[in-house]
Amino acid sequence: MTAERVDWTSAPSGPLRGELRVPGDKSISHRAVMFASLADGVSRITGFLEGEDTRATARAFVQMGVSIEAPAASERIVHGVGLQGLRVPAAPVDCGNAGTGMRLLAGLLAGQQFESTLIGDESLSRRPMRRVIEPLALMGASIGAEPGGLPPLRIAGGRGLRGIDYTLPVASAQVKSAILLAGLYANGETRVTEPHPTRDYTERMLATFDWPIEFGAGWAKLSGGHRLRATDVVVPADFSSAAFFLVAATLVPGSELVLQAVGMNPRRTGLLQALQAMGADIRLGNARDLGGEAVADLVVRHAPLRGIDVPVEIVADMIDEFPALFVAAAAAGGTTRISGAAELRVKESDRIAVMAKGLRALGIDIEETPDGAVIHGGRIESGEVDSAGDHRCAMSFAIAGLVARGQVRIGDCANVATSFPDFATLAGRCGFELNTAQGK
Ligand code: S3P
Repeated sequence: MTAERVDWTSAPSGPLRGELRVPGDKSISHRAVMFASLADGVSRITGFLEGEDTRATARAFVQMGVSIEAPAASERIVHGVGLQGLRVPAAPVDCGNAGTGMRLLAGLLAGQQFESTLIGDESLSRRPMRRVIEPLALMGASIGAEPGGLPPLRIAGGRGLRGIDYTLPVASAQVKSAILLAGLYANGETRVTEPHPTRDYTERMLATFDWPIEFGAGWAKLSGGHRLRATDVVVPADFSSAAFFLVAATLVPGSELVLQAVGMNPRRTGLLQALQAMGADIRLGNARDLGGEAVADLVVRHAPLRGIDVPVEIVADMIDEFPALFVAAAAAGGTTRISGAAELRVKESDRIAVMAKGLRALGIDIEETPDGAVIHGGRIESGEVDSAGDHRCAMSFAIAGLVARGQVRIGDCANVATSFPDFATLAGRCGFELNTAQGK
């Protein structure tokens, strides 16, 4: 996928101003392609994220015989083949950097009549897959993995699956979704219960595609034996991409940004609560419904921040936003304590270690704990950091550079293309100039 080494340089800048629409939601884009592919009929997806992760998912379905047109950027027309219509892929299915792609596909492919193999890039090949292999095995699936439950995943297929009643050991929308997707193909009822509610896009989108499903905060149940009916999907702007601009505009004096049509699903917006508790000035305007999802325009103005103890109850609702929060906390007055966030250690990188190491290199006093960190806000110095190939760490360090004493050089940023290929362009449009030099 991303072969070329890309390093960035970020430096202090003037105020960020303007109106931006960040790209489409990654979680929704993955699911839209999956359900549209398995539906009867033709679905149009607008606002589709043109990122490497979501394109890899679309490619997977093309490889399995689904015709997907791209009439314009961020638009897909998917000719669904029906629940039983996928064809055996001639080669391993490459999920790239995408944990969502691999874990959801594992559930879906477990229900097929054919054998398949899921592979991923270096980062994805280190991510834990037992969390999906074990419940899927309870449903009757047979999935082989490398020692430690690591990819590639070899999915036998051709097994009759049975529904299960499963309580997840960790709060994970990906695991929940993998089980529900296998449940579409299973005999009887599949029920999942979560230790803490997570994003419910799979449940909501299954209902939109006309699959009978019941769900509430922290649980969902469905039965096999129905059909998905094609429908059009409008993807809202990704809160996780907006998050970088929320933090950047908060930190840089004189800033005022409007972020348009941002998805406001409450299972995604924990960072908003955290930043507001720290003193941020972020207001919601024009709250509305966009294709069944709540969206709003977010108006963010500069405000000084103070450290907080991040409430454990909102950790799952901001799980992808911790790299950005680390930077907000580093620039805040006082101490920020994060706990209950051990999952950060198994994301695209070990985000606690990568952010702590990088911020320490920029002069911030920060202690790592097994499930979080204690961050003492202070002056961010210039220096060199390594994003470890993690898109969200790279963009977060870029924000640190905005308020540093001098330049911050960020190594290994190519994977920003997995979720936010236009980050530097959009940043430049509101006055945040990034130098995105190729090579070293
Ligand atoms: C996602 C769920 C979360 C999140 C990831 C996307 C999804 O992962 O971190 O970026 O689309 O379901 P977990 O389910 O592993 O927490």
